[in-house]
Amino acid sequence: MKKISLTSLLILSACQGVQASSAADPATERGAKLYQQYCISCHGANLAGGQAPSMADDNWEYGSSDADILKVINEGIDDVGMPAFADSFTEADKQDMIAYIRGGAELKTTAPIDDVSSVESQVQIQDWATDLNEPWGIEFIGQDRALVTEKSGKLWQVSSNARNEIIGIPASVDKRQGGLMDVAIDPDYARNGWVYLSFTHADEEKSENLMTKIVRGKIEAQNSALLWTQEQTLFQAKPEHYLNTGFHFGSRITFDNKGHLYFGIGDRGKKEMAQDLSRPNGKIHRIMRDGSIPKDNPFVDNSDAYATIFSYGNRNPQGTIVHPETQIVWETEHGPKGGDELNAIKSGVNYGWPKISYGRNYSGTVLTPHTALPGMAQPVSQWTPSIAVCGLDVYTGDLFPEWKGRLLAGSLANQTVRLIDVDNESYLGEAILIKDKGRVRDVTTGWDGAIYVALPNKIVRLSPAP
Ligand code: HEC
Repeated sequence: MKKISLTSLLILSACQGVQASSAADPATERGAKLYQQYCISCHGANLAGGQAPSMADDNWEYGSSDADILKVINEGIDDVGMPAFADSFTEADKQDMIAYIRGGAELKTTAPIDDVSSVESQVQIQDWATDLNEPWGIEFIGQDRALVTEKSGKLWQVSSNARNEIIGIPASVDKRQGGLMDVAIDPDYARNGWVYLSFTHADEEKSENLMTKIVRGKIEAQNSALLWTQEQTLFQAKPEHYLNTGFHFGSRITFDNKGHLYFGIGDRGKKEMAQDLSRPNGKIHRIMRDGSIPKDNPFVDNSDAYATIFSYGNRNPQGTIVHPETQIVWETEHGPKGGDELNAIKSGVNYGWPKISYGRNYSGTVLTPHTALPGMAQPVSQWTPSIAVCGLDVYTGDLFPEWKGRLLAGSLANQTVRLIDVDNESYLGEAILIKDKGRVRDVTTGWDGAIYVALPNKIVRLSPAP
């Protein structure tokens, strides 16, 4: 039998969407540390490339043998910026780095765009609620009953045969990408009745200035009407941080099992602000469900920062969900032209926008030469070209037992729902669940175990094909 090299095995597993785990071999670990210290700034996290070529693929411009790699490390490459490291390391250090480059790297996969298998034949698609106008968020409150937001500013209680508007919700501004956005219910909704909304809010004095705002309230039936009552503001930016653009408002609401609420605000089209902790945009925020600030939020001791910030450098998060089994905060965010990201959001971490990105400016010009830099997290996976990710959930139902625990990610431009297989923080692969039914704004598991998808004018229900 022909011998297969370790590198080609790694490449093979990457093609299959399998993430190679980092070897626990001590030489490789030492090599990884040296790599992180001396090489990552150019060659990128996990050897993925950046200013300098990827060393996770199987393309070796200067030769692929250990001796070839050693020669490059020793002598550098004149004129292109690869430094000579002959005197910087011991021979053992160099061998350890080669061991890391050879096999120890955690290969990051790039999520496939078109060349991805489809499981569409396993589902049947039926209209569940029609004649809706740009439904943005769906949240089930019963077996056949959901709260549904329309971007234009209406909140509905919807079932397959009836629809009631909830009267008295706060005014939102339906401008470009803004409007009434997400709706979510409290993890203890059955007991406390709290309903959460995110929306585009206009500054009271300068109404052209907008920002994402988060409130909660309760829905009360009076006579035959459903009224929004007991409203509380949970997050509102400082008036001087409202902006008059119509871009990138975020925003999904999700909860972990420790009483926290997470929501995202996009960069509002002001990309540099995503790196500025004194600004609320370009961030994932974490608050308690009553709007108070968790004492262990990462920037509570920084008097310039918004104390609600949990992570930063996030371009436009329109999918956020806490995985019920792992409690990982999964997030999908829009890249520019390319570089849509799937991230595992962690406290205090910089996700790099706009300093690093796999995308380009919409004009096609280079936005940043970096896909990786020290101190900035890599996405778990990324889609280039962009699919325009929007809406994210974890499948938790019983109708499709083999899909339990997988992520459901919607996409606007690509008009797909993707079923993403993850293992803890690793991306394993994905399949297309539905395609070409229209731009997907939200996707969720119903109480009946079916999957519900918000399309431009309706919500469809996916159940097992007969
Ligand atoms: C200042 C930026 C920079 C740093 C730091 C750097 N490299 Fe490079 N490296 C480059 C560039 C640029 C090239 C590609 C030259 C080309 O494409 O012609 C390169 C090429 C290489 C290659 C050849 C790849 C091939 O395709 O054959 C190897 C191997 C390599 N570098 C290893 C390392 C190691 C190991 C370190 C850390 C000890 C390191 N580099 C640090 C910029 C850098």
